[in-house]
Amino acid sequence: MIIGIGAGDPDQVTVQAVKALGRVDVFFVLDKGEVKGELVGLREEILRRHCGDRPHRLVRGRDPERDRTAGAYAEAVHDWRRRRAEVCAEMIERELGPEETGAFLVWGDPSLYDSTLAILEDVLARPGVSFEVEVIPGISSVSALAARHRTGLNRVGRPVQITTGRLLAGQWPGDVDDLVVMLDARNAFADLDDPDVEIFWGAYLGMPDEILISGPVRQVAARIVEARAEARARKGWIMDTYLLRRGTGGDAPEPGPLGRR
Ligand SMILES: C[S@@+](CC[C@H](N)C(=O)[O-])C[C@H]1O[C@@H](n2cnc3c(N)ncnc32)[C@H](O)[C@@H]1O
Repeated sequence: MIIGIGAGDPDQVTVQAVKALGRVDVFFVLDKGEVKGELVGLREEILRRHCGDRPHRLVRGRDPERDRTAGAYAEAVHDWRRRRAEVCAEMIERELGPEETGAFLVWGDPSLYDSTLAILEDVLARPGVSFEVEVIPGISSVSALAARHRTGLNRVGRPVQITTGRLLAGQWPGDVDDLVVMLDARNAFADLDDPDVEIFWGAYLGMPDEILISGPVRQVAARIVEARAEARARKGWIMDTYLLRRGTGGDAPEPGPLGRR
């Protein structure tokens, strides 16, 4: 099973996910090491809260490092995925009995910028491997962002696009005025010089350290960059997501009650 566990708040685990957790014998975790130990801790907290008395095992594998120096991004990700599939295939083979149910807990929702489904497809394509995959959706960081800023993602009859900081840094995509940006390690929003773009930014959504900032991007970008750098230095890691909205009338209003809390 692949179970979406929400984006950081243990209360975001759905009733469907709780029922699924209660059927699992072995939980598989790819551990990213010390820095993100907090995220592994959250998974453990979810298991403590929601697995009840059912006996279960937690099996950890070491998440292989991604080659971030590689020029070809897609190839580097593909290679990383293949190496992760190796680790998962080995854990499943070694730890899961024939009648047992195994699960991967996936941050947010498994459909968004997550490779667990692709990894399990890779494992299943190997000779002699056979199991059923069930996917339980979770509350994504995108849903959490929209809810915390009390906004929708699209405007009436209009599209919304979900993209990455790397792609936004190339250029604003055509035909869309509402953009959700994830995986932005380089503050791509700070290069936008359009007076008519608003940003709704959130870091550590659903967690005790949550930070929210919103307003015309030209007015609040520097504040976000500073808050981001400070939080990253303090905690050693950051996860942030934002919505960019073009064409709302621009720079004029100061960030109101939805500003930083
Ligand atoms: C590998 S993707 C996983 C997304 C996840 N599957 C989801 O549904 O949210 C990681 C990115 O999700 C976003 N993200 C995940 N959790 C977040 C949180 N609690 N607060 C802000 N952004 C978050 C960040 O953009 C981060 O770089």
